[in-house]
Amino acid sequence: MSTDRLIIFDTTLRDGEQAPGIALTPDEKVAIAHQLAKLRVDVLEAGFAASSPGDFEAVSRIASDVRGPVIASLARAHPDDIDQAYEALKAADRFRIHVFMSTSPIHMEKMLRMTPEEVLKASVEGVRRARKYTDDVEFSPQDATRSDPDFMIEVCRQAVEAGATTINIPDTVGYATPAEFTELLRRVYAEVKGDRDDVIVSVHCHDDLGLAVANSLSAISAGARQIEGAINGIGERAGNTSIEEVIMAIKTRQDVFEVEVGCDTTQIYETSRLVSQLTGYPVQYNKAIVGRNAFAHESGIHQHGVLRARETYEIMDAAMVGQQGGQIVLGKHSGRAGFADALSRMGIELEDEEFNRAFARFKEIADRKVEIGEAELRAIIEDETQPRPDDMVELVSLHVSGGNDVTPTASVTLRTNGSERTYEGKGDGMVHASFAAIKQAFDIDEARLVDYRVVPVTSGADAMAEINVVIRVGDQTFAGRAVNTDVVEGSAFAFVEAMNKAARVRSAPTR
Ligand code: KIV
Ligand code: ZN
Repeated sequence: MSTDRLIIFDTTLRDGEQAPGIALTPDEKVAIAHQLAKLRVDVLEAGFAASSPGDFEAVSRIASDVRGPVIASLARAHPDDIDQAYEALKAADRFRIHVFMSTSPIHMEKMLRMTPEEVLKASVEGVRRARKYTDDVEFSPQDATRSDPDFMIEVCRQAVEAGATTINIPDTVGYATPAEFTELLRRVYAEVKGDRDDVIVSVHCHDDLGLAVANSLSAISAGARQIEGAINGIGERAGNTSIEEVIMAIKTRQDVFEVEVGCDTTQIYETSRLVSQLTGYPVQYNKAIVGRNAFAHESGIHQHGVLRARETYEIMDAAMVGQQGGQIVLGKHSGRAGFADALSRMGIELEDEEFNRAFARFKEIADRKVEIGEAELRAIIEDETQPRPDDMVELVSLHVSGGNDVTPTASVTLRTNGSERTYEGKGDGMVHASFAAIKQAFDIDEARLVDYRVVPVTSGADAMAEINVVIRVGDQTFAGRAVNTDVVEGSAFAFVEAMNKAARVRSAPTR
C-alpha cells in the first residue's frame, strides 16, 4: 500500500463492542463483519480472541467467512493471548495480530504492577512471538498520551526492531488535544518510523472530550497513515473515533488531507444502521454523516436554497453515504407485488419463506397503522429474518391489565416445541408484569434486566418503536430486540429473544 493511502482500521467489533450494554452474538458479529467488508474497510478487528469463548468463536468465524479486509485480533503481550489470537485468525486470507501493553505510569503501577523494564521486555517478547505467526503485527502502547513520551517511544522503537509493522498510538482516555497529539505523533514518526517504508504509524483515539475525530485527522499531517475507529463512534465510555466521519472528512476535504481512502462510501448508512440495530445503540438524530437529520433542512430559507442548488447548504450529497432521498410508503391496501417491489427498490432480497413471514408481519402492522415507510419496512424485515432455532420459545399472545390503584398483571401464552402454555405475572408496570410472566417459562432464575431502551422508528402517534432489552446471566449479557407499534408487546418479544439466547448458551457445550 502506498503511504498516501490512509488505512481504515475498523474496531467496531472489538473496542466498539466493549460499550456498556452491547451484547452481540457471534452470528451478529459475522453479519456486521460482512457489511464492513462491503464498506471496504482495510483492516477489521474482529475481537479479542483470548477474552472469552464467544470472542474466540466470533474471530474464528469472521476469519474463515469474511473476505476482503485484513482480519485482526487484539492480544495482550502474553504468550497465551498471542497463541489464541493466531488460533482464531489462522483461517483468514490475511490476518494481523494486534499486541498491546500499557506504558503510562498509572497503568504500569496500579493496573499491571510491573516496572518499566518489565513492560519493555514483555512488549518486545510479545511482538516477537506474534511475528512467529505472521509478518503483519501491530503494537499499541496503551495510554500513550499519559505516558512519559521518551519511554513510550523507546518501547515502540524496540517493538519495531522486534518486528512490529504498525505502531499504533492510542489516546486511551481521550485526554489529548489536537496540537499536543500532532506534536507527539511527529516525534513517533521521526524517532520510531524514521525512513522505514515497512512501518506504518497509526492512531486510535477515544472521545472523552469530544476530540477523537479531530485528534485522528490532525495526526495525518504528522504522518499517520492508519486511523482506527468504530462505526457510529461506539465504544468504551464516550466511545471511539467515528470512522464514518473520518472517511467523509477525507473524501470531502481532499484539498486539506492529501491521503486517499479505499472505502465504498455508499455503504456507510447501511453499516451504521446495522450496527445501531444489532447493538441497540441509537444514532443521535443530529450525528454527522449518519444521523437522520444529517441531510434534512428545516428552515424555509435553507429548504428554498437547497431546492435551487443543493450545494447552498450541503457539503456532501446524501447519496454518497447511502442516505436515500426518495421515500417508499406502503399501506394496508398494498399487496404482495407492491411489497416485493418496495423491497427490490430498497435493494433487499429475501428467500421465499422469509418473504412470506415478512409480508405476513407487514400486513399485521399495516392493519394498525396508516402508512409504513422505508425505516419501518427495514425494521420489520430485520425482525422477521433473524434465525429462529426450533427449540426456541415463541410468544403467542399477551394480555395485560392495570391502571390507577390496580396492580398491573400480564397473562402470556408461549409456545415451546409445539406446545403452548400460559403464564401469569405481576409487576410495577405492564412491561415488568409481562417480563415476570415470561421468565417462568425459562429455567434461568438469575436472569436480571440490565438495560431497556425504547427508540421510535418513526414519529407520530401511531409510530413504531424499536425496543432493546439486555439481560445479564452470571457474567454474560444477552440482547433482544423487537419493533412494534405497541411498546408493551414489543418489549415482551424483545425479552423472549434475550431469554432464548441465554437459554441456548446455557444448553451449549462449553469450548
Ligand atoms: O484504547 C486503547 O488503548 C485500546 C488499545 C488496546 C489499542 O483500545
Ligand atoms: Zn480503545
